[in-house]
Order: sequence, then structure tokens, then C-alpha cells
Amino acid sequence: MKTYHIWTIGCQMNVADSAHLAAALEALGYRPAAGPADADVVVLNTCVVRQSAEERVVGRLTSLRPLKARRPQMVLAVMGCLVGVRPAEDLPQRFPQVDVFLPPSDPEPLLALLRQREEEARGKKQEARGKGQEARGKGQEAGGNEHGAAPVLQITSPEAAVIGLIASERDLLSIPRFIPPVTAYVPVIYGCNHVCAYCIVPYRRGRERSRPVAEIVAEVQALVEQGVREVTLLGQIVDRYGYDWRHETRNTEHETEGSGPDLADLLRAVHEIRGLWRIRFLTSHPNYFSDRILEAVAELPKVCEHIEVPVQAGDDEVLRRMRRGYTVADYRALVQKIRRRLPGCSIATDVIVGFPGETEAQFRATYDLLAELRLDMVHVAAYSPRPGTLAARKMVNDVPDEEKQRRRQAVEALQERIVGEINSRLVGQTVEVLVEEQHKGKWRGRTRTNKLVFFQDDADWRGRLAAVRITWAGPWSMQGEVRSGDSHLT
Ligand code: SAM
Ligand code: SF4
Ligand code: F3S
Repeated sequence: MKTYHIWTIGCQMNVADSAHLAAALEALGYRPAAGPADADVVVLNTCVVRQSAEERVVGRLTSLRPLKARRPQMVLAVMGCLVGVRPAEDLPQRFPQVDVFLPPSDPEPLLALLRQREEEARGKKQEARGKGQEARGKGQEAGGNEHGAAPVLQITSPEAAVIGLIASERDLLSIPRFIPPVTAYVPVIYGCNHVCAYCIVPYRRGRERSRPVAEIVAEVQALVEQGVREVTLLGQIVDRYGYDWRHETRNTEHETEGSGPDLADLLRAVHEIRGLWRIRFLTSHPNYFSDRILEAVAELPKVCEHIEVPVQAGDDEVLRRMRRGYTVADYRALVQKIRRRLPGCSIATDVIVGFPGETEAQFRATYDLLAELRLDMVHVAAYSPRPGTLAARKMVNDVPDEEKQRRRQAVEALQERIVGEINSRLVGQTVEVLVEEQHKGKWRGRTRTNKLVFFQDDADWRGRLAAVRITWAGPWSMQGEVRSGDSHLT
């Protein structure tokens, strides 16, 4: 049996890309391996958003060198943001152990290589059997179609056949694994046009490309048919969904006119899918979170009350140099608007500390803003200069590392206290939990507001909605006891 192993770091987009690739490999007859040592195909799906992420990738690649030397027939592939949409020419020299490099969201180079190797292997076998011998059952064996572009399907098991139903269209290949997950990520807009001063993502993931509504709906439909109950629609700026059609390439200007679907329309279309219970979307940018989107979230019962909208800094001067395109007052007003229209909505944000030139007072402004807004989740990162970005080219990385770490830890401590307080108010309340899996003997799932809940029960709760009374709450998770279940929407 042919096997694969995918190692993924980075954001949800990478998780989605890995799932897509896994589905494509499974459609080719590969099965998950226990680890890289047992796999015929090893893929590293990479992130370079900070230097530390890139160092982990390079470390992993280095540690795979002896394995590749021992098993040269193993295919080693590198995918994602280390490669980028315009791969650097020196990649093969830097990583000679790698057989194939795949841009983000594009499994095709690996699939083509595997198909080519299979053809070569088949050719050799046939040669050995002697020329002129009729190739027996070639059609069924390869299962390829006449269009050439689609992956060769080897229908070797009922599970693979299920995947095969949608595998003829490359963009619909999104369902890996033989126990389909309860939740899934669905990219709806690729790339980013924003070019924030610190960020390498636009250079590695390219310009914005929205997927057509019908294609997304078909993919979600297929996921639901296989047991998925919650989808998270993904984009670097998900609330810019459809802008590329409506405004050609007008960059960061905030315009709402033009025709064509936006995220609100997409949410409404996905909401129609029977059997889907929950819809989330991320990441939003404050400039594009329109009233239409807010109304759709408020009106559509399946769309969860959880918004991820990064602020990055709480000081106008820093925001300006980051090229974020909004002020602290704009962000505060957006949070207030969301809370007015969606009481109880949880809000998550991202913050960078130690951006070039960030003074103690400017950091303090970020800290004070977070203390004032009391958001439900803050992902905080120490600024890391990334090659090619405006900040790396034009600004001095002048906040010392220890100071960056002190600022990061201060924000983390503040947030731990705030979230602990927010969550403790849920003790005694009953919340709806979509149960995803069992973990160390406990069922684990999330509330509509994206809070992690654990409970113990003998029944099989996987993929079901449970009403759970919260008995204990900490900043990162809560525990409770199940009251009843399956109060789901259809
Ligand atoms: N598109 C999202 C947005 O507009 O905020 C974020 C996408 S980025 C992949 C995820 C997070 O990484 C960012 O929100 C930012 O906080 C962090 N990040 C990006 N570049 C960084 C850098 N050079 N140093 C530290 N953190 C960075
Ligand atoms: Fe990076 Fe800014 Fe684009 Fe987010 S919006 S991916 S932070 S450039
Ligand atoms: Fe990393 Fe690329 Fe995502 S750099 S955070 S994997 S977009």
C-alpha cells in the first residue's frame, strides 16, 4: 500500500491546503502513514510568517535528510509559503533533498510527479513482460479520465470511491481521511492585495482571487454529504470576498459599489445547504467589515457569533506605519457596532508588539486598548522582519528582542485575566457545543462563540450538538456536563 505523511505549520489556509492535498493523494490510492519514516510521500506544508516559523521548516527539512538518503525512492515535497507563488530560483540548491516544490494551494506539481513515476513504473513492468503483450485492464487500473488535467483516480476502496465522486474537479478535492472530520476549512478567497508593511503573505500567496459562489457551495455540499457539520470560510481578508471581481485591482481602497456577490451573499448561499449546522469565517479586516456582512451574521442562524478581526496595534502612528488603513477610533467603533448588533458575539484579534519604532508609550496604548475592549481572544506576536517587506527594507528593527518578549508576555498576562473573567461568567449556563472528537477520555467541541468545551459521557457524541452546562471555566477551555443533544438545525 502506498502511503503519505503531511506535516503542516502556519495558518488555517495551510490546514485547508493540506486537507485538499491529502484528499488528492487518497484519490490516487495513497493512505496516511504513521509518520515520515513509513511514508512513500512526505510533504512539508510550510509557513514563513515569522523567522521562527521559517527556522522550524528548515530544521524539519534538515532532519529529513538522513531519511531521504536511506530511502531515495521516497518522494519529499515542500509546499506553501516557503515556496510561494513565484518560487525563488535557488530553492533546489538550498534544499537538494527535495523532489518537488509546490506553491501554496497547488498540489498539482506533486500529483503530476507521482503520476509520471507510476507511468514509468508501469512502463518498466510492461517492458519486463515483453513487448506486444496487451496491457490488461489498463482503464480500470489507472482510472484516469480523458481530460488529462484531472488527477488519476485509483478506486481501491469504498472510501476512495466516495472521494472519487468529486475528484474529477480539482477544486472540489477537499475531503481527506477515512473518518471525515466534523468541521472543515474552505478557502473562499486566495492571496492578499493589502501589503501591510510587516507582512510577507502577499509576496508568497499572490494577489487576491475569489472562488465562484457555485464552486464553494458545491464543495460545502460535498463536505456535508460526508459528515461535516461546520465550515469555516477562509481568506486572508475574507470580508474582501468578491472585491477582485467588483473592482479589478484597485488595491486597498474601501469601495462598496459594483456588482457581483460579496461575503454577505456567499454566507446566504452557503446557509441554504441542508445538513450544515454552523458557518464561520475568518480573517476579517476592519476596513471591509460592512454593514451588509454584519446583517447577514445577525440574520442567518447558522452563522456563528464569532468575528476574527485583527487590530495589530492600538496606536494611530504605528497603524499608519504598518499601512493598516484604519485608526484606533475606527476599530473601537467597529467593535461597538458588532456588539450592538450581535450581543454576546465573541471577538478575536491579532496584535504585533515591537514593530519598528514602537515606543513604550505606543505599546502602552495597545495594552490599554485591549484592556478597554476586553476581547475574547488575542493572538500576540513579537515583530519579526521578513525579507522583501516594506518594514524590512525601509525601517529599523530597533526594539530589542527581550523588550519584544516583555511586551508580548504583558499582553498575554492581561488577556489571560480578561478571558478568565469573561469565561467564568458562563459557569452555570448551558451552551450549545458541536462535538468534534474524543480527547483523553473526554468529548471535546466548541461553542458557537468558538470556546473550547470538554465533557465526559459514555454516549457517542462525535458530530452531534450537545447542550452542555458549564461547571468550570478557565481562560483556554471550559468543562461541563451534558444535558441533552441533537437540537440541531437542518
Ligand atoms: N490577514 C490577516 C490580517 O489582516 O490581519 C492576518 C494574516 S497573517 C497570516 C497572521 C498574523 O501574523 C497577522 O495578523 C500578524 O499579527 C502576524 N504577523 C504577520 N507578519 C508578521 C511579522 N512580520 N511579525 C510578527 N507577526 C506577524
Ligand atoms: Fe498580511 Fe495585511 Fe494581507 Fe493580513 S491583510 S495577509 S496582515 S498583508
Ligand atoms: Fe504562514 Fe503563509 Fe499562513 S506565511 S501564516 S502559512 S499565509
